[in-house]
Amino acid sequence: MRILLLCHSFNGLSQRLYAELARDGHELSVELDIADTVTEEAVRLFAPEALIAPFLKRRIPESVWRSVPCLIVHPGVVGDRGPTALDWAIHDGETEWGVTVLQAEAEMDAGPIWAYRTFPMRQARKASLYRHEVTEAAVAAVREALMKLAAGEKPTPLERHPAARGSWRPAMSQDWRRIDWQRETTATIWTKINAADGFPGVADTLFGVPCHLFDAWPEGRLTGAAGELIARRETAICRATVDGAIWIGHVKRAGGFKLPATAAFAAESAHLAEAPLDSWQAASWQTWQDIRYEEEGAVGYLHFEFYNGAMSVRQCQRLQDAFLWAASRPTRVIVLMGGEDFWSNGIHLNVIEAAASPADESWRNIVAIDDLAEAILRCESHLTVAALRGNAGAGGCFLARACDEVWVREGVVLNPHYQNMGNLYGSEFWTYLLPQRVGWKGARAIMQRRLPMLAQEAVFCGFYDKVLPTAGFSAQVRACAQALVADFSARIARKRARRARDEAAKPLAHYRAEELAAMRQNFYGFDPSYHVARWHFVHKTPHSWTPLTLARHRRAAIGRVGAEGFFDHDQNPPALMPI
Ligand code: COA
Repeated sequence: MRILLLCHSFNGLSQRLYAELARDGHELSVELDIADTVTEEAVRLFAPEALIAPFLKRRIPESVWRSVPCLIVHPGVVGDRGPTALDWAIHDGETEWGVTVLQAEAEMDAGPIWAYRTFPMRQARKASLYRHEVTEAAVAAVREALMKLAAGEKPTPLERHPAARGSWRPAMSQDWRRIDWQRETTATIWTKINAADGFPGVADTLFGVPCHLFDAWPEGRLTGAAGELIARRETAICRATVDGAIWIGHVKRAGGFKLPATAAFAAESAHLAEAPLDSWQAASWQTWQDIRYEEEGAVGYLHFEFYNGAMSVRQCQRLQDAFLWAASRPTRVIVLMGGEDFWSNGIHLNVIEAAASPADESWRNIVAIDDLAEAILRCESHLTVAALRGNAGAGGCFLARACDEVWVREGVVLNPHYQNMGNLYGSEFWTYLLPQRVGWKGARAIMQRRLPMLAQEAVFCGFYDKVLPTAGFSAQVRACAQALVADFSARIARKRARRARDEAAKPLAHYRAEELAAMRQNFYGFDPSYHVARWHFVHKTPHSWTPLTLARHRRAAIGRVGAEGFFDHDQNPPALMPI
C-alpha cells in the first residue's frame, strides 16, 4: 500500500513503524504535522491509500480524513481518549494497558476501532513504557489494521466494541502531578515522576528555584528530614521523603532545557555531601547507580544507564575507567549492556549546549568518547560484546561496533548516521568500523540515507552480528556470552591477529586523526550547521518543514534512495570518505 505517516515529530515509534512497514513492502512517505494546508498538500502529492498517525498532538483536518482512511495510533485501551493516556494509566496504577488503532473522525480518539493490543504494565517511566510495550503493541495493531483495510473490512464502532473499557480523560495538569514532600512516600513520588517522564516532568522546586523533575530512582539507605536535599552523586541529587529518600537525575529549570541535576544546579549542589559508591560492583541495596558491574562465571556485565543514552565527557571517562577495571578482572568476556531504553546516542548535546563554549565542550566530548571506543578496540585480554536492549543513534551505533560482537534485540531501532545533526562528519572510528563490515559503497549509502534501520537490517547487511528475541533477551545474552567463553582461546587469538594486521595496514591513530580533523571543522569551522542543528534539537523547536529524506512525495524526481549499494563490498576506499 501507499502509506503516508503523519507525525508531530519522527519519534522512536514513528521510526519503528516506518522501518517495519517498509520491510513489509509498503511504499512509505512521511509528513510532519506542521499545518493543515501542508498535510493536504502531502496527501495530494502522494495520493496515499492510507494515512497513519503514530504520534500526533492535534486533529487531522476534515478534508484529509474524509478523503483517505486515517489510522490513529492511541496509547490507550479501547475507549480511552485524551492526550495524556499513559500518564493516567501510571497514575491510576493500571495493571494492564494497551494501544488502539482507530479511524480518525470528527471527535478526537472516538472513531471506530480497527485493532488493539494489550500488555501488562511495568513499574517504569512513561517514556520507557512508550519505547518498549507501547511500540511493540502499536506495530502489531497497525499491521492488523492494514490487513483488514486491504481486505475491505470495516472498523468496529466504539460503542459496539467488545473490549471497550476506557473513557475520556482530560490532559493531566500539574495539579495532579504535584508532590507533597511532607506527606507522600517514596513510592508515590516515584510513580508521579515516572508518569511525567520524559515530558512534561513534575513541577517542583530545588534550592528554592522552580524546575521540573525527571529521572527518579528510589534510595534504600540515605535518610533525612522530609523534603530536605541530603546528598549528591555524580549527576544526581538525593532528596529525603517521609519514609526514605529518592534521587533526582535530571531537571529542567524554567525557560531552560533538561540537564543532569548537578549541572542544572551546579553552584547550589556543590554544597551537598557527596555520597559515592565504593566500587563499580552493583550495589546490594536500591540506589542510583548509573554504571553497574555484575559478574557471572567468566563473564562481566557492564550496565550504563545514562538518561536518554546521552554521554557527557565525565560519563565517557567514568565508563572507560569502569571498562578498564572490568578488563583487569580474571574473566574472559565483557558485555557492555547499555541502558534499558537506549544503548547510546553519542555525545551529550544538552550538556554541550549548556557549556560556556559549546564548541570546546563538543571537542572534549568527542575526544572522550573516542578514548572510550579506542580502549574497547585495543582490549586484547577479553572478548567484548555490545548487547543492545535499547535503541542507539549516531556515535552510539559505532561505539557499539567497537566491540568484537554486537548483539541486538529485535525491535531495536538504529540511526547509524550523523548528518541529521547539522552535517556532522562523525567519529568513534566509524571510518574504520563501518566499511570493513559493509564496504565503502554500503557505508556511504547508510550515512547518506539518514533513515532508521531495524535490528534485522543491521545484521542482514553485516553491520551487527546477531538479533536476539525480545522475550528472554537477558537470558539469551547470558547464554551467548557463556558460549563465547567456551570458544575463548581460538577467538582471542584471531582477534589479536586481526588487530595487528589492521594496525599495520593503517594505525587506529590515523583513522582517529582524520575523523577528528573533520569534526574540528564541524565545531570550529565557517559552517555553523552543527551548532544551529544542536540548538534546535536541544530547545525542541517545532519543525517548519519535513526533511526530504523522509518526505518522498516531495522529491519525486530522485526515486528510491539508499536501496543500492548496501551489500557491495567494494575495495579501494578513499583515504577520507567524502559524505
Ligand atoms: N544528547 C542529549 N540528549 C539526547 C541525545 C543526545 N545525543 N540523543 C537523544 N537525546 C534526548 C532527546 O532530546 C529526547 O529528550 P527528551 O527526554 O527531553 O524528550 C530523548 O533523548 C529521546 O530522544 P528522541 O529524539 O525523542 O528519541 P527518538 O528515539 O525519537 O530518536 C535519535 C532517536 C537518536 C534519532 C535522536 O534522539 C537523535 O537524533 N539524537 C541525537 C544523536 C546525535 O546526533 N548525537 C550526537 C552525535 S554522536
